[in-house]
Formats: sequence, structure tokens, C-alpha cells
Amino acid sequence: MGACWSSRIKSVSPSNTGFTSRSVSRDGYDIHSNSRNSSASIPMTPRSEGEILQSSNLKSYSYNELKMATKNFCPDSVLGEGGFGSVFKGWIDEHSLAVTRAGTGMVVAVKKLNQESFQGHKEWLAEINYLGQLQHPNLVKLIGYCLEDQHRLLVYEYMPKGSVENHLFRRGSHFQQLSWTLRLKISLGAARGLAFLHSTETKVIYRDFKTSNILLDTNYNAKLSDFGLARDGPTGDKSHVSTRVMGTHGYAAPEYLATGHLTAKSDVYSFGVVLLEMLSGRRAIDKNRPSGEQCLVEWAKPYLSNKRRVFRVMDSRLEGQYSLTQAQRAATLAFQCLAVEPKYRPNMDEVVRALEQLRESNNDQVKNGDHKKRSRVSGSGLGHHNGLPASTSKGSIDAAKKFNYPRPSASLLY
Ligand SMILES: Nc1ncnc2c1ncn2[C@@H]1O[C@H](COP(=O)(O)OP(=O)(O)OP(=O)(O)O)[C@@H](O)[C@H]1O
Ligand SMILES: [Mg+2]
Repeated sequence: MGACWSSRIKSVSPSNTGFTSRSVSRDGYDIHSNSRNSSASIPMTPRSEGEILQSSNLKSYSYNELKMATKNFCPDSVLGEGGFGSVFKGWIDEHSLAVTRAGTGMVVAVKKLNQESFQGHKEWLAEINYLGQLQHPNLVKLIGYCLEDQHRLLVYEYMPKGSVENHLFRRGSHFQQLSWTLRLKISLGAARGLAFLHSTETKVIYRDFKTSNILLDTNYNAKLSDFGLARDGPTGDKSHVSTRVMGTHGYAAPEYLATGHLTAKSDVYSFGVVLLEMLSGRRAIDKNRPSGEQCLVEWAKPYLSNKRRVFRVMDSRLEGQYSLTQAQRAATLAFQCLAVEPKYRPNMDEVVRALEQLRESNNDQVKNGDHKKRSRVSGSGLGHHNGLPASTSKGSIDAAKKFNYPRPSASLLY
């Protein structure tokens, strides 16, 4: 416990945004003493900034080109805001990837680094370094970048349904509520993305797994974005890599917060937090709640391990959509991922298998029209989803304003 409210959590500090070319590891960070495993499929030798950019197979854009593609970074085309800066809708030609006039060609997402953003050049380069080399159906595609004077931008495939965070926690007709079937599909897709990163060929620790970094395509296929904090996993006989404690409040594993020792099991813990957010419709940290409920993991853990009380945790918007057994199995999986001791957490391959089985049993029930067997339990028993008053879900603007909560962003945690 204590992962949520560690007294050592400090505020954001600026990271190095020096633009000089230098030796960096595969993750774009200064190299440290760990030996490297030469069996990995990605070159393990430290690479200079120039080498990373040249070998990435990504398209290089000028600032003016991206300005044109986004209608001069028009506020109307903002898709979202994060710690890095704003993300704009833009347009390029599908075949040549050259920018086109706004409104013609293929839509892309253009992320523009704020000059004053603490997530700076290092994270921008790490993103290119990883996404320029790694390809998987559950990782978002990076198409290109811009490096010009002080400007740093990234061009991604456009994910029409936006982030999971928006669907789970934002209200309004724009964001469709996620059904139980969709939540299982998304959790499985995101788990496959993490399992791919952790695989022996790739060996990458993602370090910033959270709902805002899971993006959705038209069919709700989940893809991980934002590799700015990703690191190479330990190699040889090393059990961990040592890092500054970076991440997002509420998602970081307790041992990582305490020691800075990063392992793939730190990602598994963050996956457990996200799974819990999917089950409950509650944010990892929510200061608008009564004390005792503000940290989701601390509040939910006693219910997750108790088969008869597991429904206290479930999002009441899901009522009638899942069976008792399914809820219990999903809660048990979240509980295992959230084990305080990393060695008791499953690895991501095991998580993927558990979710595949869960999804199969759900699909069977849906196919058989077996809704009668599904539970008609009253969610948290409090008569409101998300833990918010029912009036909020009915669109009360005042209530929505009152409960509006600043979005969590990645920062230096320790
Ligand atoms: N490829 C994309 N397609 C569509 N929308 C996107 C895309 N990338 C980002 N967005 C939108 O922009 C928002 C901001 O993304 P961004 O990655 O900058 O910040 P974040 O993930 O919310 O926070 P952090 O800075 O901590 O990563 C996302 O939550 C999402 O709604
Ligand atoms: Mg993000």
C-alpha cells in the first residue's frame, strides 16, 4: 500500500532538453553501466541522435509543412492535451505521406511539444527511437517527425475513438460508454501490446501505462502510444534497471516508487490499476471522493479479494452485462497484478491468456443470448456509476463542472 500517497512524491521538474547530438541508449537516454543482450532484435549499441533519426524509416517534415497540415495549429483541430503539449488533427497524402491541404487526404494526429514542457527532447527522441523500430497491431504507428530549430513534433496514425480515458471518465454524447464486451476487448488489446514489449525479442519496459495512453481505432482496437518514458529492460543477469522515478501518480508500482528499480513487473502493476479502472469506472486517483476512496487501489483491494463483495467495485453502468463468474475472474486478475511483491504478479503473457479466456466465455454467453444468467447486482450499491451522483450522468452541467478533475500527467514522481 502507500503507492498512491507516498510522502516522497515531488512536483514536476524540467528534464534535459539540450538539443546537442550525444550518445544515447536504445531508449534515447544516456547510457549507464548495464551490459546489453545482443540477442535482441533491435540494435543494442548506443546510437546518436542522427543515427536514430536516419534509421527510423520515418518521414521528416518541416515545421511549415505541419503548420499547413493542421490549419496553422488551429484550436478547432485540437484532439487533446498532455504533458508533452497539444495534439492536433492534420492531413497528409496516404501514399506519398506528403502534407496536403487540411481536409483532404488521410487524417493524422500531430503532437506538438510545448517549449516549456518538462517532457522534452529526450522523450521526443525516445518516442522516435522505439516507435521508429517497433511495430505491432497494439502499438500506435508513428509516421514522421519534425526537428527544426526549437520545434519538436511527432506525426501519428489517427485514432478516431481517442483515448480510453475519454470514454471511461468524460461525460457527454461525444464519448460512447464502454460496454463490458468492449472493456474486455480493450483490456486484452492493451495487454497484448505490453506482452509484446516485454517479450524476449523486444524487452522494453513501457513505464507509463494508463488509460490516456491507450488509444482506440474505429473498431475499438487498443493501441499503446507515448514511449517517451519507455526504457530497455534489464539484460544479462541484471534483475532491474535503475531510473529516476518517472510516471503518473496512481499507476506506479510501490517498489518502483520506493527504490527506482524498474522491472517488467512494474508495468504489470500499472496494468492492474488500469484493469481496475475498467471494472469500476473510477479514476486511479480522485480527490473529489471521500477520504478512504481517493486512491482506487487502496479502496478496492479488500473487495477484489472477497468473492461475495466484488460487486462493490463494479461500475454500475455495466449492470446486467457480465456474469458473476466473469466479474470474479476479472477482479482476481486485477488483484494478482496489484500484488505488493512483484514476484507474485503474473507476467503479461499470463495476463493475456487469462483475458483471452474471459473474453471467450463472455462471447459464448453473448452468442447464446444467455443474459438471464447475468448478474443483476446493484454495482457499488450506491445507486450511481463512477461514484458520481446520478444527476451528473444525466448531463447536469453544474455537477459535471464540480466533479471535473484535472487529468493525470506523467511527471517526476520521486
Ligand atoms: N494518435 C492519436 N489519435 C487521436 N487522438 C490522439 C492521438 N494521440 C493523442 N490523442 C489525444 O490527445 C490526448 C493527449 O495525448 P498526449 O499523449 O499528449 O497526453 P496524455 O497521454 O493525455 O498525457 P501524458 O502527457 O501524460 O502522456 C490523448 O489523451 C488523446 O485524447
Ligand atoms: Mg499520452
